[in-house]
Amino acid sequence: MLQSYLQKEFLTESVARRQTPGASAVICRSVTKVFGEGETQVQALRGVDLEAPYGEMSLLVGPSGCGKTTLLSVMAGILEPTSGSVTVLGQALDQLRGQALVRFRGQNIGFIFQQYNLLPALTAAENAAIPLLIQGWSRRKAVAKAKELLDAVGVGARAHALPSQLSGGQQQRVAIARALVHEPRLLICDEPTSALDGDTGHVIMDIIRRVGVGPDRAVIVVTHDSRVFEFGDRIIHMNDGRVVKTESNGSAGPRVSVNPSPAQEILTEQARQTRGRSQ
Ligand SMILES: Nc1ncnc2c1ncn2[C@@H]1O[C@H](COP(=O)(O)OP(=O)(O)O)[C@@H](O)[C@H]1O
Ligand SMILES: [Mg+2]
Repeated sequence: MLQSYLQKEFLTESVARRQTPGASAVICRSVTKVFGEGETQVQALRGVDLEAPYGEMSLLVGPSGCGKTTLLSVMAGILEPTSGSVTVLGQALDQLRGQALVRFRGQNIGFIFQQYNLLPALTAAENAAIPLLIQGWSRRKAVAKAKELLDAVGVGARAHALPSQLSGGQQQRVAIARALVHEPRLLICDEPTSALDGDTGHVIMDIIRRVGVGPDRAVIVVTHDSRVFEFGDRIIHMNDGRVVKTESNGSAGPRVSVNPSPAQEILTEQARQTRGRSQ
């Protein structure tokens, strides 16, 4: 009985996953978002059509105020669009309400905000552990896993510090560890390298790419930082609330979409390299 149940669950899962490569992790159709009313009304999104495929890192670029953060928030189910449809990992977001939406987000989406949004009373390790604690992990296990992630992004030595005791760049790394700790299938990042120097920005983009991109996973990164454009498989240009151009970047590196290594191995290796560099 138990065995057949497990087999059925396993088969359902593997069939679902086999169907995903080549498809899109995120599909936006005619998405609009209007803030406010009357004279103060702002039309932040004016009909966005966009697809972000599995196995790719999509970069979203465009001038300040063109609607990038609004679009990320809509894709993450944090903001409801005024009209249009958003499908994430095969799930139409407008079909989910309340707790179901919160649960879907918690299990499937990692979000790195432009402001780091760390909780001031919690240590770096506790902040990074939050997605696992929400999923019901024990505190000890969640913090231990969070520390591995902090190691991987180069702030392992500051695991017990409070956010107020960290530099902007260190806080950014903790926010990145928090977004990656539960190995989400969709990772959404708003300007993840804006507070980092060029070398660190490259290390962080490499980690995000290695952990976030896989055959049934996808990453979407908003960035102004032309130094990291090389990491994107495609570059989606926005202007004035619309997508105006999509370029594919054949030379995006390092190619990991067919890499079978589990994220954990990659992180351990990354932590080793990061420690090596700082010695
Ligand atoms: N909560 C909000 N209330 C009113 N206007 C907003 C709000 N959030 C964003 N906007 C406006 O929507 C437009 C797009 O903003 P945003 O998505 O933050 O752009 P970007 O991230 O590309 O800089 C801007 O004109 C901004 O002022
Ligand atoms: Mg923004």
